[in-house]
Amino acid sequence: MRAMRAEGFSGYEDLKLVDIPKPAVSDGRVLVRITAAGVTPLEHTILSGGYPRAKAPLVLGGEGAGVVEEGGGTAFPVGSRVMFTGPYGVSENGAYSEWLAVRNENLCLIPDNIEDVSAAGVPVAYLTAQMTLSFAGFVKGKTVLLPAIGGSVGNAVTQIAKAQGAKHAISTTTNHAKAQQARSLGFNEVIDLSVEKLSDGVRRITAGDVTDLIWKRASMKSFSLFSQPAEVWSTAWSVIFHLLQSSVVKPIVAKTFPLPEAANALRYLVESRPFGRVVLTI
Ligand SMILES: NC(=O)c1ccc[n+]([C@@H]2O[C@H](COP(=O)([O-])OP(=O)(O)OC[C@H]3O[C@@H](n4cnc5c(N)ncnc54)[C@H](OP(=O)(O)O)[C@@H]3O)[C@@H](O)[C@H]2O)c1
Repeated sequence: MRAMRAEGFSGYEDLKLVDIPKPAVSDGRVLVRITAAGVTPLEHTILSGGYPRAKAPLVLGGEGAGVVEEGGGTAFPVGSRVMFTGPYGVSENGAYSEWLAVRNENLCLIPDNIEDVSAAGVPVAYLTAQMTLSFAGFVKGKTVLLPAIGGSVGNAVTQIAKAQGAKHAISTTTNHAKAQQARSLGFNEVIDLSVEKLSDGVRRITAGDVTDLIWKRASMKSFSLFSQPAEVWSTAWSVIFHLLQSSVVKPIVAKTFPLPEAANALRYLVESRPFGRVVLTI
């Protein structure tokens, strides 16, 4: 099968189109014929040597969408469309390939109204968005600040917060054109940092009700998607499935590239900083 494999980790030129054996199905894994793979900043970090635990040669790609071919049982019958993320493209071969044996717990069915290309870019951003909102204690009626409206995580978390009844779901961008694009897409609480300071924008949108963070006993926490327990994953998948199915949230794809152009896709993501997810079609 065809795959885009990092032969080393010294930059774009190390990413090569190779022909490698199709993976075999083993216990707890489902063979997925991949139709599209999301392109995330983590792949760029790995390809640039910024993730020492990854070992070359390594097929990149931490998320994707496709069709079940074998091993899915009744939860994921043969022919069903699925999306997934997990340690693929990090500690084992990933989604920049024609087939992948995906662990059961890393899979979610794709709602009928969502195309594969959109679904491929959902898992990392939307799981991160849903879990972090939940860990931050977000409930309906709260005001939240969710930076980077054009970023995949920033956009997903803003859409989910709006869908779940935020009083204000405030986002940002450093780019004037992105601020205009955001407004045309209906995101009307975006602070354009090219013309306004963050604090001024938040005060304007909240009519000055931001009080001292000390009195709120605020804290800052780090988050790692792949360290979360199985029940957190299954709850988040379920929330996301229903939000997608009801079209309350709409994943945004900036641009697609064919598999052999994975290096250009990564370059585009990192250097052009587009609005929405970059996706490889396979
Ligand atoms: N901890 C975890 O488990 C976890 C999970 C998912 C993602 N992440 C991380 O979260 C970050 C966002 O992921 P993403 O998929 O949303 O990325 P993305 O789609 O590339 O978006 C990143 C956004 O950050 C803004 N930005 C500000 N300064 C930047 C800079 N110097 N270079 C590039 N972008 C900059 C950009 O918005 P403007 O152009 O408006 O400035 C851009 O839209 C990444 O670092 C990713 O690795 C972590």
